[in-house]
Amino acid sequence: MKKKNLYINIGSLIGVSDLYPKRPLKGAEMSRIDKLDNAYLSIAGDTIVDYGQMNDLGNIAEIYNNYDNIYDVKNQFVIPGFIDTHTHLVFAQWREEEFIMKLQGYSYEEIAKKGGGILNSAKKVQTTSEEELFDAALKRINEVINYGTVALEIKSGYGLSLESELKMLRVIKRLKDYTKLPIKSTFLGAHAIPMEYKENRNEYIDLIISEMLPAVADQGLAEYVDVFCDEGFFTLEETDTILNAAVKYGLKPRIHVSEMSNNGGVQLGIAHHAVSVDHLERIEDEEISALLLSDTLPTVLPQVSFFLKIPFAPARKMIDAGLPLVIASDYNPGTSPSGNLQFAIALATIYQKLLPVEAINAITYNAAYALEIENQLGSIQKGKKASFLILNSDVKNLDFIPYHFAANKVEKVIINGEIR
Ligand code: NIG
Ligand code: FE
Repeated sequence: MKKKNLYINIGSLIGVSDLYPKRPLKGAEMSRIDKLDNAYLSIAGDTIVDYGQMNDLGNIAEIYNNYDNIYDVKNQFVIPGFIDTHTHLVFAQWREEEFIMKLQGYSYEEIAKKGGGILNSAKKVQTTSEEELFDAALKRINEVINYGTVALEIKSGYGLSLESELKMLRVIKRLKDYTKLPIKSTFLGAHAIPMEYKENRNEYIDLIISEMLPAVADQGLAEYVDVFCDEGFFTLEETDTILNAAVKYGLKPRIHVSEMSNNGGVQLGIAHHAVSVDHLERIEDEEISALLLSDTLPTVLPQVSFFLKIPFAPARKMIDAGLPLVIASDYNPGTSPSGNLQFAIALATIYQKLLPVEAINAITYNAAYALEIENQLGSIQKGKKASFLILNSDVKNLDFIPYHFAANKVEKVIINGEIR
């Protein structure tokens, strides 16, 4: 028998999406958020079965007989759980020594050229056991759950050899099985050119195409493929070649573009029907126009701009032009050592001029589309998973989340009907 749980006296039930368009919110729609004040929410097992206003709940004695548990939310706010569509949270070690180099004036590119950056992480992953990688990543997942994340994407890309890339992807699969969270897995063998292939890039690209992609597909270890298509990493042509190979294995692209330079990666992603193009710090009007004609979801990562002190993606301009927007953390040891999406919301509002409600839609309703889990998550709707957040009692409107930045405004996290 499925357990029936009832949450009563919800101050405001935010993100009730029955009347939303059945596609990502875009342009002016991004500042819409439907809610129900003084509400109840009824759960059976892991699924939302009903909600409404307390006035309509009916006879209290009958209610007590019908439910296994009743939780009094005491007027606090309830919102859909956050979805992080871009992370690299499987890694062996932090890289705080590079943080100090950055403070001393070295750029991300200079640190990468010195063998730091992604190659540094790859060396460590190659010599770390699957067990250790799993334990460390699980800790990070539990950490971000406390900040409100209920579903996420994780990339490989710190392996950079057949064996180590598969090892990372197996860890992601184990994390999915163990945590029961919706976790989407992305193969990012093309994250950097390993040192030993530096003089022979094509050989590494061949390895990706003729050995890594077939093995990943054969073992069912990823749904998506990613390429770091940027200056100093993979060229447009190389990215095109890899994406052409990946599509034959059914891997859909979601790619890193325009972080260091604006190189046409956005247009290439669109041409390959990428589910999303991520970063976009350097995009211009041309890229915005191209995105407007596509179904590819633009995803911005404000924590990277904050941490690397590079420009922020023109998110305000993108929404004003009529685009949908997704925000993610990019949780990784090099460019965003935090997976706290509440901080990403604060940055998106303070530095990218988004309204708090726009930022919240970007990490809930729209993010669900970016991970193709819109039937399960992203809003409060009958039939969707009961994965939602009870906010602290001092939150009396959504603006308070970025306003009271760097504090955790999430009091309780419910995932698939269970209090975590
Ligand atoms: O999303 N840009 C490429 N990849 C990561 C950085 C990874 C790293 O430095 O370890 C990113 O920023
Ligand atoms: Fe990234």
